[in-house]
Amino acid sequence: MDWKGFQTGKRRRVPLPTYPFQRRRFWIDPAPRDSSLSTNAPTKIPKSPNVAEWFWTPSWKLANTLAGSPSFQSSGLWMVFSNGADTGTELIARLKQEKQEVVTVMKGTVFARLREDLYTIAEKADYQRLFASLVDINQRPINIVHLWSLADAPAHVGNKAELFQHYQEDGLYALLDLLQTMAVDKSGVSRRVWVVTNNSVMVENSDSIIPEKSGLLMLCKIAPQEMDWLSCSVIDMAGAYDDSVNMIAGRILRELAAGQMHSIVAYRGRNRWLQCFERSQLSAGNPVRKLPFGGVFLVTGGLGAVPLLIEKHLASTVKAKFVLLGRTLLPARDLWPDIAGQNGHPHEKQARSLLDLEAKGSEIEIVQGDVTNVEDMRFAVDLCYQRFGRLDGVIHAAGVTIGPTVFCAIADLHRDAFAVQARPKVQGLQILEEVLREKDVPFVMALSSNASVLGGLGFSAYAAANSFMDSFVAEISTRSTRTAWISSNWDHWPQETKRMTQYRTTLDDYAMTDREALDAVDRVLANFEAGQIIIATGNLEQRAQLWVQRDFSSPHGKTTAIQNAHKEPRPVLKSVYVPPRNEIESQLVKIWEEFLGIQKIGTHDDFFELGGHSLLATKLVSEIRAVMNVELPLAKLFEGPTISKIAEALDPSTGFPKQTVLQA
Ligand SMILES: NC(=O)c1ccc[n+]([C@@H]2O[C@H](COP(=O)([O-])OP(=O)(O)OC[C@H]3O[C@@H](n4cnc5c(N)ncnc54)[C@H](OP(=O)(O)O)[C@@H]3O)[C@@H](O)[C@H]2O)c1
Repeated sequence: MDWKGFQTGKRRRVPLPTYPFQRRRFWIDPAPRDSSLSTNAPTKIPKSPNVAEWFWTPSWKLANTLAGSPSFQSSGLWMVFSNGADTGTELIARLKQEKQEVVTVMKGTVFARLREDLYTIAEKADYQRLFASLVDINQRPINIVHLWSLADAPAHVGNKAELFQHYQEDGLYALLDLLQTMAVDKSGVSRRVWVVTNNSVMVENSDSIIPEKSGLLMLCKIAPQEMDWLSCSVIDMAGAYDDSVNMIAGRILRELAAGQMHSIVAYRGRNRWLQCFERSQLSAGNPVRKLPFGGVFLVTGGLGAVPLLIEKHLASTVKAKFVLLGRTLLPARDLWPDIAGQNGHPHEKQARSLLDLEAKGSEIEIVQGDVTNVEDMRFAVDLCYQRFGRLDGVIHAAGVTIGPTVFCAIADLHRDAFAVQARPKVQGLQILEEVLREKDVPFVMALSSNASVLGGLGFSAYAAANSFMDSFVAEISTRSTRTAWISSNWDHWPQETKRMTQYRTTLDDYAMTDREALDAVDRVLANFEAGQIIIATGNLEQRAQLWVQRDFSSPHGKTTAIQNAHKEPRPVLKSVYVPPRNEIESQLVKIWEEFLGIQKIGTHDDFFELGGHSLLATKLVSEIRAVMNVELPLAKLFEGPTISKIAEALDPSTGFPKQTVLQA
């Protein structure tokens, strides 16, 4: 400080505005005690404005092998779902040798307790009987190992549909029944689930994978996102190695004893692999580089919002011609101009878009058909050749993007939801492959979602169907020489095409603009050869770390719900403060205040504006369920993220509509 200079010259007192102490604390939490949650994990990963940074491919990195004899830290009952195969028998014996208490559960024709530590189950209700029977003898399974998907295709299963159903029954549906049973168990204990599979992921090019198992992996990814008391890990083995039962059981055993659980660990021989993602450089591309001018494209689900955007783009750039297939009957061509002018007509937007395509010089054929119907698909493919003389590519966009099957928490999900989602993306893709098998089609691009990479609350059924497409494409890419199969996992498309959920979600932050989305389409079509390409507008590695490894902190740097006695004052919000008006609202205010660490929350205050995000939403709903002893579907919080809306839903006189009608 230059005091001399300060003393010389003219001095004047300038009154500054007073600044009162606000008595607000800006608390910095101590590091979390759980070492698996890193303190410097970003809480919010921003969208990148640079489209060039959006492309990723799935990859695997070699991890340290787990050596030596396992040492089990945790106590608690082990429940092993065995299919009677040698690996399960060996694993159970080894767990017992390690002084672990084990109950074995096998598939049978009825529920039965065959021995003190051996049960059979036959149907969903048996899971409840199983847990109740254990509670009766004062036992509660903490560690669950599911081995029913560690199996090859049985010899008696015939066609693709039967095979798919078989794998769902033993894998996805069995795990769904188990998770739903545990979800209603209000014991509050943390549980760990390991699902052991074989050939469910492609690590090495020589892997022969079973895409039908991929849905199970999605349930394992999303269940811990929705249920914060649960950790879940998939251990995938491969049959192509000369490994003994003893070696495989030993590897599984060491995974069970390891402190850290990974979303997925794959063993190929003695190599232990963890999934990661690698950036893919796709330069700005002009579709003309790869697509012929005046080319002919078949688009399944071609009258949907996203495909219409892509078609418009291809019409503008390469003057493409189209055969568009969808189930809904479109009014006759001569009615389009009239419909396009009718505000609110169900086909207004489609009619306008199709007229626009024609105005750009495109020729269009519309086929009313279903991708799950092989005759419809043959007809559509043949039409390309008959009408236009060629077929230059297929975009498989058919999908169910609205309705209760798209957004539904695991606790409320019905098996039918998986079947509805599977129709266009599982059976539809299989049929597409069948009808194209003998044709020389340069490429097929399936529009998948990055829900199959990152999961997402309520997305189990949707992610399972998309994940099948990813695996199917990975598998077929290893043997298809005629056609380049691409599975493109997209982030949210521009807002106006977004009907997937009417709810506000974290994914909204990652939505693309029209221009960005079409830039990305060009880059994929012009540069990408074949396989799976993930389009993630925010850093995918970090998002996977946050969402899949669940390495997250809450909005204000707190690791989970706030357990601090201190609370922040209510921030400035769009809503006017309205105090609770009845007992239910008062109870909810108390829970929200404790949970978010904010004082004086009003009944119309928005959970997301208060700093909540999707992962906290799961925790809040669990908290409300536990404290108030009520049923509250997760979707309710997204439909109306305020205390008044939740209170309305909880009012016993209103009750809940149960989700039973699941139609596409
Ligand atoms: N929108 C997004 O943000 C987003 C993000 C990632 C991925 N995607 C994927 O992109 C694709 C298009 O999405 P979108 O938002 O445009 O959805 P959309 O508007 O609902 O379009 C999907 C179309 O698929 C058709 N379809 C459904 N089942 C069918 C079947 N069995 N056979 C034939 N057509 C069928 C539907 O028409 P009918 O009901 O008349 O058959 C609908 O027009 C979907 O596969 C979606 O999963 C979308």
